[in-house]
Amino acid sequence: MDHFLYRDGALHAEDVAIAEMAEAVGTPFYCYSTATLQRHFSVLDEALASAGLSDRIICYSVKANSNLAVIATLAKLGAGADIVSQGEMVRALKAGIAPQKIVFSGVGKTAEEMRAALEAGILQFNVESLAEIDLLADVAQAMGKVAKIALRVNPDVDAGTHEKISTGRAEDKFGIAWDDAEAGFAHAKQLAGVDATGIDIHIGSQITELEPFRLAFEKVAGLLANLRAQGHTIERLDLGGGLGVPYSRGNDTPLDPATYAALIADILGEAGCTIMLEPGRLIAANAGILVTRVIRAKQGKAKNFMIVDAAMTELMRPTLYGAYHDIKPVTQIEAEELVWDVVGPVCESGDFLGQDRALPVPEDGDLLAVFAAGAYGAVLGSSYNTRPAAPEVLVTGDQFEVVRARPTYEAMLSRESLPDWL
Ligand code: LLP
Repeated sequence: MDHFLYRDGALHAEDVAIAEMAEAVGTPFYCYSTATLQRHFSVLDEALASAGLSDRIICYSVKANSNLAVIATLAKLGAGADIVSQGEMVRALKAGIAPQKIVFSGVGKTAEEMRAALEAGILQFNVESLAEIDLLADVAQAMGKVAKIALRVNPDVDAGTHEKISTGRAEDKFGIAWDDAEAGFAHAKQLAGVDATGIDIHIGSQITELEPFRLAFEKVAGLLANLRAQGHTIERLDLGGGLGVPYSRGNDTPLDPATYAALIADILGEAGCTIMLEPGRLIAANAGILVTRVIRAKQGKAKNFMIVDAAMTELMRPTLYGAYHDIKPVTQIEAEELVWDVVGPVCESGDFLGQDRALPVPEDGDLLAVFAAGAYGAVLGSSYNTRPAAPEVLVTGDQFEVVRARPTYEAMLSRESLPDWL
């Protein structure tokens, strides 16, 4: 459930009319709802609590939406952070996440990033290869520290999701091959600079079936038993993120967090480990919309195009994954509906936000909302065609504030310079 609802035909974010924000901020812009962020976090946290998983940390996957105000909203609720770069660590710390709740994932951490994270005193590194373990052990030892690590193992489970966001199959680039996992732990045990006390998996994103999770958790339980029998101390199980969300309002049925939590409790609840999760999309996707204005409509022979002022540069998901996002008028009107491609002004045929959508014939300047854009929306933005990044606005109750401003052209060009010979 989210807090983007129509009141007397006018779309609101909590108690603020979207049209009012559009006047104040200009379009396109992202709008996030505090109450929705809080609700999504709490639903998951309470589901885990009700399933009896008292020793748990929800590490919000910062990559989904790394706006400082979004992270800070979640930090206030007790969230930790799942990061994949030093930059994300800087954000998480600045937003008030305690280092003891930060887990560093990612397949390509550099020595410099390892040093910075050790300096900050993060909870755990999720390592993805033996070479990475060796490097981390060296870096930590040189600093007189011991890095707490989890081995990210690849359970070779097909999450049944989009090709580009599947991560847990043997052919994906992520994790240590399942058959090498026990040898990996034995190897880590020899090294003074690391303490391998966790198992980590992440099988993919936008997963809408429980079965891939069940298969993966059962494999983790088996590995845990083997490792303990071999004398390893395992204290933390990081089960990754991946919970899918509804992209088509009223049609998609997402996984129920309570069922997911019960599954974890059933398979791993007695393991005596801290259960860690890394949800991103579940928390942020439906807590954000992208608001855009119709520049003009162009009715053609083969297709009708609604040209709007947001594009693939603001929301890349439709272009990149063929992803579907609901698109609705901000002000509900009784007007003839036609079938439209909703497209941006970027000079690429692949630049679209939605295809074959039944929408009322618009007036120039009408506002549209693109829903479920809070995760992997603004963060995937680019300035292609020298388009300024869309501002981000956070709403709480009847208040709103710009939490990332639209850059001026001067600011956009300020990092470029002309060499002397020009
Ligand atoms: N943990 C790890 C190690 C990950 O790689 C990811 C996402 C997450 C957690 C969070 O997954 P979530 O709960 O959000 O599903 N840009 C794509 C999604 C890429 C996901 C990358 N990894 C999209 O727009 O669909």
